Amino acid sequence: MSESTLPLKNRVALVTGASRGIGAQTARQLAAAGARVIINFAQSAAAAQQLVDDIRQAGGQADAVQADLSHPAQIEVLFTQAAQLAGHIDILVNNAGIIEMLGMDAVTPEHIDRQLALNVRAPALAAKAFALQFKGQVGQAADGRIVNLSTFVTGSQAMGGALIYCATKGAIDTLTTGWAQELGARGIRVNAVAPGAIETDMYAATGKKFEDYLKSRTPLGTIGRPSDIASMVVYLCSPQAAWISGQVFNVNGGIRI
Ligand SMILES: NC(=O)c1ccc[n+]([C@@H]2O[C@H](COP(=O)([O-])OP(=O)(O)OC[C@H]3O[C@@H](n4cnc5c(N)ncnc54)[C@H](OP(=O)(O)O)[C@@H]3O)[C@@H](O)[C@H]2O)c1
Repeated sequence: MSESTLPLKNRVALVTGASRGIGAQTARQLAAAGARVIINFAQSAAAAQQLVDDIRQAGGQADAVQADLSHPAQIEVLFTQAAQLAGHIDILVNNAGIIEMLGMDAVTPEHIDRQLALNVRAPALAAKAFALQFKGQVGQAADGRIVNLSTFVTGSQAMGGALIYCATKGAIDTLTTGWAQELGARGIRVNAVAPGAIETDMYAATGKKFEDYLKSRTPLGTIGRPSDIASMVVYLCSPQAAWISGQVFNVNGGIRI
C-alpha cells in the first residue's frame, strides 16, 4: 500500500498497555496503517522503547509514554504528554488490563480494588480525557474512535476463579454501549473487542494451565495470537467501519466454555 492510501494516515492513536501482548501488536498494526502511535506502558520501558524503534525503522511514527494507569493522576500525565508529542488524539485503545485468579472464598477488598482501578476506572477516565480533548481535524468530519478490550468470559460465560476480572470486563461492555450513545453526537465511535484466549504473558500466567480444555471448547481448535485481535481493532478504527458503534465484537475462534 502506498503511503498516500494508508487508511489511518494523519491520525494519532494512543494505545494503553502497549509494551507487550495485544497492545504492542495493536500499536504495530495501527502504525502500519499509517497512524502515529503513542505507546503507553507502566513498567516495561525497554520493551516499549524496542517497539518504538521497530515502528520507526519500518517508516512509522511512534513515541512511548510511561504512566501507571491505576493511578488517576497518571492518566492526566499521559494525556498531557501525548498532547505535547502529537497535539491531539483521534483514536484511544483502552487495552491495559490485569487479571488476578482467586476463588470466591479468598477475595479481598484489595483484589477487587486493583482490578477495578485498572480495568474499569482507568478506561473510564481515559475515555473522559479523550472526549474532552477531541475536536476532530480541521477540514474533516469529526471521526474519533475508542476501542475497549473486553474478554470472552463475561455474562453467562463468566469463569469461576476469576469472577472479579470477569465483572470488570462486563462493566467494559456496558460502558462501550453507553459511551457510544453519549459520544456519537460528538463524532466519536465506541466499540469493544472481546478476545478469546490469546497467547500473551497474561495467558501464560493464567489460561495456559487450562489450554487443553480451552482448545477443546474452541471450534477453530487453537489459541489466538495478538495479531488476531489487533486486526479487528485496526478495522474498527478504519474508515471502513465508519457506521459501526456501540458494539462488542467476539474474536475468539468460536469458543464457548
Ligand atoms: N490474553 C488473553 O487471553 C486475553 C483474553 C481476553 C481479554 N484480554 C484483555 O486484553 C488486554 C491485553 O491483554 P494481554 O494479554 O496483552 O496482557 P499482558 O500480556 O499482560 O500485557 C499487559 C499490558 O498492560 C500493561 N499494563 C499493566 N499494568 C498497567 C498499568 N497499571 N498501567 C499501564 N499499563 C499497564 C503492561 O505494561 P507493563 O509491562 O509496562 O506493565 C502490558 O503492556 C487486557 O485488557 C486483557 O484483559 C486478554
